[in-house]
Amino acid sequence: MVSFVVLFVHCLLFISRPACEHCSGMGNDVLQGDSMITTREIAFHLPGLDLSLEIVANVEDLVTDPEDDDQIPYWAELWPAARGLAQYIWERIDFQGATVLELGAGLGLPGLVAALKGGLVTFSDYIEESLDIIARNARRNGIQAASYLLADWRDFQCDKKFDWIIGSDVLYNPTLNPYVAGILERNLSVRGQLLFSHPSRPVTMQFIDDIKRSLGLQEEKAVQVVTVQEPGVPQFNQGIDIHHLTKI
Ligand SMILES: C[S@@+](CC[C@H](N)C(=O)[O-])C[C@H]1O[C@@H](n2cnc3c(N)ncnc32)[C@H](O)[C@@H]1O
Repeated sequence: MVSFVVLFVHCLLFISRPACEHCSGMGNDVLQGDSMITTREIAFHLPGLDLSLEIVANVEDLVTDPEDDDQIPYWAELWPAARGLAQYIWERIDFQGATVLELGAGLGLPGLVAALKGGLVTFSDYIEESLDIIARNARRNGIQAASYLLADWRDFQCDKKFDWIIGSDVLYNPTLNPYVAGILERNLSVRGQLLFSHPSRPVTMQFIDDIKRSLGLQEEKAVQVVTVQEPGVPQFNQGIDIHHLTKI
């Protein structure tokens, strides 16, 4: 049953469980509703970057109603798209002094790396526990100046304009995408830039094409290869599409 639920959650997003090399027990338990969240520590390495991350160890226990998309704990997985975007940011983007909004931050890996590249990052999600874990991960990796915004895309109470808006694997739901488009229209500054990553989802490609037209954006595309590990399956590489969009 437990593995069925994990499989179910993963099948909904049509992607695989991310790799988690160098795991170790951590023993941090937090009560979420009726569920206890257990966390563990992993190391996330890139050339010149060593992060220690607290991640959720018992994602399957947090599924309360698999029929209700809002109850599925997507936030609690470290998705391959987050690893790909983190890698892209670390290698290619200088955020020095820029304001950055991360949408659907989940465990917040891309935003943490953006903060280490000089960004003033606001992590946002509609799940409070997501922001709690990100705040702990920011502290354990020496990030002082971060902000946290608990907000649902369907009622996004934020007036601030950001130099960058970023998101990994957040454009997968066609009923939610129009709300995200509204946030981009309202909260991106005049010369603002966007960064989105995903595992080649057609629905995301369509969204990107639409906002390129409606917001007048030009695009630089890249593919970052990340290594994915599944229990019982040999590790494999997955290409993550990166879209870097700037105002024309
Ligand atoms: C597939 S997860 C991606 C998480 C993280 N960005 C990553 O790549 O590991 C989607 C994220 O979007 C958030 N999300 C989904 N629907 C949302 C909504 N209506 N408002 C705000 N955040 C939402 C979820 O809580 C989750 O953190």
